[in-house]
Amino acid sequence: MRAITVKPGQAGSVRLDDRPEPEVPDGCALIEAVALGVCGTDIEIIAGDYGWAPEGEDRLILGHESLGRVVRAPEGSDLKTGDLVVGVVRRPDPVPCAACAGGEWDMCRNGLYTEHGIKQVNGYGAERYALEPDFAVKIDPALGILGVLLEPTSVVAKAWDHTLRIGARSRTWKPRTVLVTGAGPVGLLAALIGRQKDLEVHVLDQVTSGPKPQLVADLGATYHSGGPGVIDQLKPDIVLECTGADVLVMAAIVAAGRDSIVCLAGVSSGGRKVDFDVGGFNRSAVLGNDVVFGSVNANKAHYQAAAEALARADKGWLGRLISRRVPLDRWREAFTRQDGDVKVILQFGAAA
Ligand code: BGC
Repeated sequence: MRAITVKPGQAGSVRLDDRPEPEVPDGCALIEAVALGVCGTDIEIIAGDYGWAPEGEDRLILGHESLGRVVRAPEGSDLKTGDLVVGVVRRPDPVPCAACAGGEWDMCRNGLYTEHGIKQVNGYGAERYALEPDFAVKIDPALGILGVLLEPTSVVAKAWDHTLRIGARSRTWKPRTVLVTGAGPVGLLAALIGRQKDLEVHVLDQVTSGPKPQLVADLGATYHSGGPGVIDQLKPDIVLECTGADVLVMAAIVAAGRDSIVCLAGVSSGGRKVDFDVGGFNRSAVLGNDVVFGSVNANKAHYQAAAEALARADKGWLGRLISRRVPLDRWREAFTRQDGDVKVILQFGAAA
């Protein structure tokens, strides 16, 4: 079978490989891939900047935003042949730490977690793969191919969950204004959930053309292009920083409003230094009760919340988020950025 593999740490090593059919351990389901979303993390892995191969191997099967169909379900599971499923990305560490033991692998304390297609376990970018039923999330058949958006939605469902839990530290806190930085798929899905919560949502991105401004407007949110000055003007109650860009991260942590919560959800590469007034930041954070926190990955409850968010969303809008569908034969094109890209997906076989 065909699989997209990469040698982590080696730029340009990505290729379409011929791999043996997957071994399906007892209790696991055999899944055939329907689609695979491409995200910034995949591009970083391909660039040699991120990613780890399984122990004892030098190549990793890429892909963590999956959508697949059950070919064979194990007895006693609630999966059946034909079900559309999304594979959870992270697996608990083997120790396990207290968080992983409690099903909160997204909060793993010792860093020994693994991630399909990213960290030490092969990903979902193969024509077929084995999946444990406990780590398979069923997709409403009415969503079809749009189910490929579940994983990025789970990441923002967690960011929202934690933001609101932190907000609950104050009995009277009622957020009104939200700023999402970055109108990529993660930012747009964060904005979608913000609108579903009836908040006033603003989205900041650099572009002035292409599909992003209209996608934001169609959510009933306000699109801003340009620099981080908008953060100072809006003084939002919540900032969901989805770019990882230094300038925006800095602006978000210094310029959000009083009692604000800034969630950093974009993974940046690091290594760039800027002058930062630590005392000034400390003073305004203390006097303003500000919170800045990081959020990564998602647990089962967040996948469930994400499935509900997608089910409530306008399907036409979700469909427009998928701006390019690339057949497996032309897989390279999926990993090459083009103007107007929002979410690019690889399609395996016929659409769902
Ligand atoms: C994935 C997350 C993962 C994170 C860090 C993101 O692209 O969506 O599931 O935890 O990368 O590896």
